[in-house]
Amino acid sequence: MNAAVSQWQIRLEAPGDAAAVEALNAEGFGPGRCAKSVYRLREGVAPVSALSFVAVDFDVSGREVLRGSVRFWPIRVGGHEELLLGPLAVQSAQRGRGIGIALMQAGIAAAQAGPWRGILLIGDEPYYTKVGFSRLLPGRVRFPGPVDQNRILGLSLKAGELLNLSGEVRRGAIDDPVCASGAGVG
Ligand SMILES: CC(C)(COP(=O)(O)OP(=O)(O)OC[C@H]1O[C@@H](n2cnc3c(N)ncnc32)[C@H](O)[C@@H]1OP(=O)(O)O)[C@@H](O)C(=O)NCCC(=O)NCCS
Repeated sequence: MNAAVSQWQIRLEAPGDAAAVEALNAEGFGPGRCAKSVYRLREGVAPVSALSFVAVDFDVSGREVLRGSVRFWPIRVGGHEELLLGPLAVQSAQRGRGIGIALMQAGIAAAQAGPWRGILLIGDEPYYTKVGFSRLLPGRVRFPGPVDQNRILGLSLKAGELLNLSGEVRRGAIDDPVCASGAGVG
């Protein structure tokens, strides 16, 4: 049995975590997740590594077990580089322990030290208000594909400033040379 014996901890995602993070996202979002229009914003673009956090705890033999993950993608909003939060996923048996909130808080705190003005996401407002997100007025930002306007949420990263993002939402700088050449982009 791999029972967890310790309280979870948050740390930066490491290169060796990639497979476990992918498994978590597959468990959390299911096989159709990559077909969502928001995934088009991630194609060919790497997440911001300084903002990618995982939650871990340790099994009885002291082996680290990954329990949750959050990543942020660079996007362009009205011509400015900003952030898209997600995917955020917590192992189903570990939900309700505060891991999701703590992962987001770690990412948001790290992002406040960066150049971005704000974070967008598409998700359930009652959950994300717990870390300060609020719903954007319909039409203020325009995603490339079909998106439920009521689920577009935003957070200002600048202390004391209201979120000031508007316009078209586009992919961030493409850093995958295959995609940059146009291959695979529909
Ligand atoms: C959403 C998710 C990340 C939450 O992780 P978690 O570690 O269980 O969250 P936390 O323990 O930090 O927070 C739990 C609190 O948020 C609430 N909550 C969780 N999901 C919620 C939702 N979708 N809407 C409203 N409230 C929600 C819980 O009821 C709980 O409230 P309480 O503290 O008042 O009891 C997790 O359920 C998950 O991985 N789901 C599958 C993937 C997913 O849907 N990701 C988000 C995409 S929008």
